[in-house]
Amino acid sequence: MNQDALMAWYRRVKRPLPWRTDPSPWSILLSEILLQQTQMERGVHYHQKLLKRFPTPESMAKSSVDDVLHLWQGAGYYSRARRLHALSIEVLNKYDGKLPDQYTQLLELPGVGPYTAAAVASIAYSIPVACVDGNIRRVMARQTNLEEPSTKEVQTYADGQLFYNAPGDWNQAMMELGALVCRPRKPSCSQCPVSESCQGRFRAQELPRPKRIKKRLMEYKCVVRIDDDGLPELQQRPENGLFAGLWGPHMAAEVDTNGCEFVGTIRHQLSHRELVVSVWKSDGASGTNPQEVALSTLDRRLLELAGIVTNVP
Ligand code: ADE
Repeated sequence: MNQDALMAWYRRVKRPLPWRTDPSPWSILLSEILLQQTQMERGVHYHQKLLKRFPTPESMAKSSVDDVLHLWQGAGYYSRARRLHALSIEVLNKYDGKLPDQYTQLLELPGVGPYTAAAVASIAYSIPVACVDGNIRRVMARQTNLEEPSTKEVQTYADGQLFYNAPGDWNQAMMELGALVCRPRKPSCSQCPVSESCQGRFRAQELPRPKRIKKRLMEYKCVVRIDDDGLPELQQRPENGLFAGLWGPHMAAEVDTNGCEFVGTIRHQLSHRELVVSVWKSDGASGTNPQEVALSTLDRRLLELAGIVTNVP
């Protein structure tokens, strides 16, 4: 791959993302954690919200996990928020509130895997480590015309390509290429700065072969109990289940729906599960204002089906 061509292209077209125009290690870490499972536009929205409320690891460490979850609501994959809170506490206690600048130290932090450690080390501290994520796997599969490259093959490829003079920009250039040009569908090969070395160009859209994940179907019943003021009874979901720590109406595989009014069914997609929730409503006591607690998108949908306005943030 022609490194100079990719770097020149990146410097010309890169998006002015907030953590690029105003980079700090903490801002970069937040962005990388968010962007792992969240689309760019939403990621930017939540990044701004989180950074404003928690400008430093210390400010997050001194807040409760519920505060972090509250800001995180709607972004999905809530375990990321809990791990991020744990990370902030560790950074405060172990590193005096400053994110460590070594790859191995970053890797030991809660919620930080090889991808995030490499992204933060290279972008925030110019440490020469190559990032591997879905974008880079796709670029590699196409460049080398491999249908199903293993993680190790992708890592070896990425290590071999890394531009040592500017590892952070290089990693971001690869991500940007995957996001803007070497897209999953309809790649724009004619705009690609590294099409010359692309051995899979003639069948780019078929590469890499998609991994089929069979989603587990889970069926639940949910009763939304509504008090005299129109507020729903909400409970905090247990630590060990779905949407741990978030709030919602009572939902379980079996729920007594005697005397309740059926209001409909919701299908909700998660990465590895498909939830089918039948929803009832009934009278209740001591409701909670849904705006004051952290709710998942599913819980908002359940409440809205039962006629409660939750004001999506
Ligand atoms: N996806 C994840 N991290 C990114 C970054 N720093 N730039 C562009 N896309 C990304």
